[in-house]
Amino acid sequence: MIKCFTLLVGLLLVNVPPVASNSRSFSVDWDNDRFLKDGKPFTYQSGGMHYFRVPHQYWSDRMNKIKLAGMNTLQTYISWNSHEQVEGEFNFEGDNDIAEYLSLAQSHGLNVVLRPGPYICAEWTFGGLPYWLLNKPGMEVRIYNKPYVEAIAKWFDVLFPIIKPFLYENGGPIITVQVENEYGAYGPDVCDKKYLQFLLDLNKKYFGENPVYFTMDNTSDKRLECGAIPGLLKALDFGPGNEPAQELKMLRKFQAHGPFINGEYWAGWFDKWGGRHANRSATKVAKSFDEMLQLNASVNFYMFHGGTNFGYTNGAMSGKPGSYNVRVTSYDYNSPLSEAGDTTDKYFAIRNVMSKYVELPPGPVPPNSPKWKSSVDIQMKTQISLFDNLEQFSTCVETKLPSLMEHFNQSDGFILYQLQWSGPLQNISLYGVHDRATVFVDRQKIGSVNRMDFLNGSLILPIELSNQLNLKPDQGYTITILVENLGRVNHGSYMAIDFKGITNMVLLDGENVNLEKWRVCPLPLNTVQPALQKVDNLRYPPSGSPFTPTIFCGSFRKLNGDDTFLDPRGWEKGMAYLNEVNLGRYWPTEGPQVTLYAPGVYFKQGENTVCLFEIETANPENTLVFTDVPILDKKKQGNSDDLVDF
Ligand code: GLA
Repeated sequence: MIKCFTLLVGLLLVNVPPVASNSRSFSVDWDNDRFLKDGKPFTYQSGGMHYFRVPHQYWSDRMNKIKLAGMNTLQTYISWNSHEQVEGEFNFEGDNDIAEYLSLAQSHGLNVVLRPGPYICAEWTFGGLPYWLLNKPGMEVRIYNKPYVEAIAKWFDVLFPIIKPFLYENGGPIITVQVENEYGAYGPDVCDKKYLQFLLDLNKKYFGENPVYFTMDNTSDKRLECGAIPGLLKALDFGPGNEPAQELKMLRKFQAHGPFINGEYWAGWFDKWGGRHANRSATKVAKSFDEMLQLNASVNFYMFHGGTNFGYTNGAMSGKPGSYNVRVTSYDYNSPLSEAGDTTDKYFAIRNVMSKYVELPPGPVPPNSPKWKSSVDIQMKTQISLFDNLEQFSTCVETKLPSLMEHFNQSDGFILYQLQWSGPLQNISLYGVHDRATVFVDRQKIGSVNRMDFLNGSLILPIELSNQLNLKPDQGYTITILVENLGRVNHGSYMAIDFKGITNMVLLDGENVNLEKWRVCPLPLNTVQPALQKVDNLRYPPSGSPFTPTIFCGSFRKLNGDDTFLDPRGWEKGMAYLNEVNLGRYWPTEGPQVTLYAPGVYFKQGENTVCLFEIETANPENTLVFTDVPILDKKKQGNSDDLVDF
């Protein structure tokens, strides 16, 4: 009965739009270097949690824990590409239900700092921008470029009316709104004030003059100058390695008065494939937080709860040719609340600091949730070879060029290129692989190339292939190149030209074969469910054939809603699918992330299906398990306080 009542109150709180009241005001008190909320001095202590990285069923739990740590505010970006995956088609349901997120925040008594971008960085694919922008003629992102600003205007025309009722003055929780994101860091020569002003004007068109707008930048004079809009509030972002008093001094060179804000206090850091798992000391994080509070700062923890880059949503980084690295699937971020929403030592260290400044809400802090472990190995009995069933997964086309993924209106996933060839073959070279290619001659794997390993993503596969492979040149053979989009660049100027697929050329024995007769198969592989429905009609690989990329599926029973972690050890590289959900990339041989977070809400009561799209090597045991302890640090967990903050 009590539960039903709570649920009813919860629903009422969540679904009723905020009501405006004249007494609500939020403003900057420039003379006294502070905010005023309803006329009273105010600082915010905030937890960063991106709605698009956390299953919506868990939002309330995480907000409750953020509140119980003494925070009075929540901060989130808005990721345009989650809402408008296809141009003109909008999704605000489920994990994209931003109105529900804002309502919930309010029902938990949390204010909101909103960061609608449209560029958000965030280690999120393409920094939150939709990939289809790249298909527009003349497109240049993050400057005042007509096709770009027109697309933004259309998007904000859909988004901002949804947001408007949630502004503080309209009865909602939103106290401040960011314009762009770290614009000063875009590129060494970019300083487009017209673009920033355009964004501010667009915000004002929908939200009016009253909300507190701000920009945020860091580290250098150039960044603080370029990222700023004259007269607008400036926030900083920095981690525990920086001295708060020094940061305040730097800010004062550009803004003589106004509240001191650390809009992204980096309580942890992100991980990249091939790197180490971030590990920022709880003691240092708490100490520097305390110092900021003594300076009367408003602070947002980036991240308080990081969540997960489910599916293909992780970003990547590239500054120059040959420098490319990819964010892992987990966005645990070494945050106070772990990827699965559990409290950590860092959480309690922060809560302890807060207890010196405010009366903490009555607890207790909920215990960490139970985790599930599969009791027997799951047999991955169903095996669907991709090469033998291509038409089940793709609509292949004949083309003159090994065209880009974007030409097929494909945002993410894989793209496969095939060429029939005859004659001797000594070597295959690939130039401009974005981002990882695995190459086969007939069914024989020749090798894989990662864009991060080769300057310009070029790969020269071994000489004398004909002899090695026993090719019969006169009979002809098939060259297959499977290219994976590992994630779109989310930071720096390279993002604007980061097309996917083979972006340059293919050479066979030094001869450019770009203009031969290619067969190209776009493979978004967002889900493997439709193929599973037709499994009885699928073709088997010829007997004795070497391993080629295959979808392996197994079923198992789970009778509770507990969270768990998929353990892909024994497999090499690919995508994991739980029922209808794409859990993301696994790459345990590369690390540091080994296990993938599998939230309890993605399981069915009873029978479940797990599938792996394995590109490189099948597990010899052909099994899979779920475990109750995450492994995010395959390599030695180092102290990453020395990681470079860009
Ligand atoms: C910057 C960006 C964030 C994020 C962090 C690093 O501050 O503004 O979006 O990329 O760096 O995690």
